Amino acid sequence: MDRTTLRLFFALWPAPLTRAALARVAQEVAHETGGRVVSSDNLHLTLAFLGDRPGELVHTLREVADGIEGAAFTLRLDAVGYWRKAGIAWLGSDAPSIELNGLQRDLVQRLADAGIALEARAFAPHITLSRRIRTIVQRRLLQPIAWPVDSLALVASELGREGARYSVLATWPLRAPGAPAVRSEHSA
Ligand code: 2AM
Repeated sequence: MDRTTLRLFFALWPAPLTRAALARVAQEVAHETGGRVVSSDNLHLTLAFLGDRPGELVHTLREVADGIEGAAFTLRLDAVGYWRKAGIAWLGSDAPSIELNGLQRDLVQRLADAGIALEARAFAPHITLSRRIRTIVQRRLLQPIAWPVDSLALVASELGREGARYSVLATWPLRAPGAPAVRSEHSA
C-alpha cells in the first residue's frame, strides 16, 4: 500500500460519555431506517474534509491547528435527519451553533491562508449515524445530547473491507470558556 497519501479531515471527536450517548442514538436510528449502524468508534463530526493528501502535509496541518484560539462550548444535538442521495441518517441541531460555525470558519480560513484549499461546499454539521438507509427518518430527540466540545482532532481515514477506519493523528484543546485568548509571542 502506498503510505505517502493520507485521507485526512479535521473533526470533533467525542469523549467516551458523549460517544456512548451518540452510539445509543445510532443504534436506534439504524433500527428505524434499516441501515448499517456507524460503529461507536467512528462517530464524529467533520469540520473540514481534506481528502487524499500527501503525508507531508500533516506537518503544515499541525501548524495550522496550533493557531486555533477558539473557546470550548457545548453543542446541543437534537435533530435526526437524512440525506436521500447519500443514503445516510445523521444527528444534528435544529438551531445552528454560533460557536461551532465560528470554529469551522476559523479553521477553514487558516487552512486557506496556509494555501490549503477545500471543496467549496457549505458546512452542514452532522454526525453520520447510519449508512445505506432503507427508510427515511426525521425527528427530534426526546432527550437532546449536550456534547461538551473542548478539542478538535486531525483524523486519517483508511478504507478497509469492513468500511472506513479512523485514526486520530493529533488533538488540540480549545481554551476554557471565559479564558482570554493567549497570543503567541510572534503576534503584534
Ligand atoms: P459523512 O459522514 O457524511 O460521509 C470522513 O470521511 C468524514 O468526512 C465523514 O464525516 C464524511 O462525511 C466526511 N466527508 C467525506 N467526503 C466529504 C466531502 N467531499 N466533503 C465533506 N465531507 C466529506
